[in-house]
Amino acid sequence: MHDDIDRILYTDDDIQNRIRALARDINEAYPSGDLVLLGVLSGSLLFLADLARALDRHVIVDFIAVSSYEGGTQSTGVVRLLKDLSVNIEGKDVLLVEDIIDTGLTINYLIENLTTRHPRSLAVCALLDKAEARKAPVPIRFTGFTVPNEFLVGYGLDYQQRYRNLPYVGILKPRVFQPAGS
Ligand code: IMP
Ligand code: MG
Repeated sequence: MHDDIDRILYTDDDIQNRIRALARDINEAYPSGDLVLLGVLSGSLLFLADLARALDRHVIVDFIAVSSYEGGTQSTGVVRLLKDLSVNIEGKDVLLVEDIIDTGLTINYLIENLTTRHPRSLAVCALLDKAEARKAPVPIRFTGFTVPNEFLVGYGLDYQQRYRNLPYVGILKPRVFQPAGS
């Protein structure tokens, strides 16, 4: 698995240090009451687990699943809701937790969808911001790192469902994208 990585962008330490700082900002921004951490599956899994542990306060954890890539490396722009959230977010502070914001189409779909359920507040926390790739503006309140416009894997991010369990964020070797034998 590690052999397929060309370059590591953020090590486990880089990520944990940044998450501690993000958690401090989030604690300050939401002084009291429950905060709903709404993870976007499956990419946000590792980030949400670490962020939740870094937040020294009550949180409610829930997940929503959408599909926008259909297995490739390019956003299709077509977003499908695969799993809805389980808690009622009406009147609650909701923080949408994403691994990466790329074109912005997925998160904008989610913001639109969740707004109709009348949360008290709705904000976005993204570990990675691929700002150059944006097709629609996204209000990201808490950002981990701004990243180059390259396809990244690890720490939740996948290529064809693999590499999510890498403890770091890296760039795949080009040969991984080429079909065997070519
Ligand atoms: P967007 O709708 O284009 O912003 O894409 C958002 C989703 O696409 C993210 O939640 C990721 O799951 C996935 N994604 C975007 N860029 C990458 C990448 O570089 N590697 C792996 N997944 C990505
Ligand atoms: Mg995702």
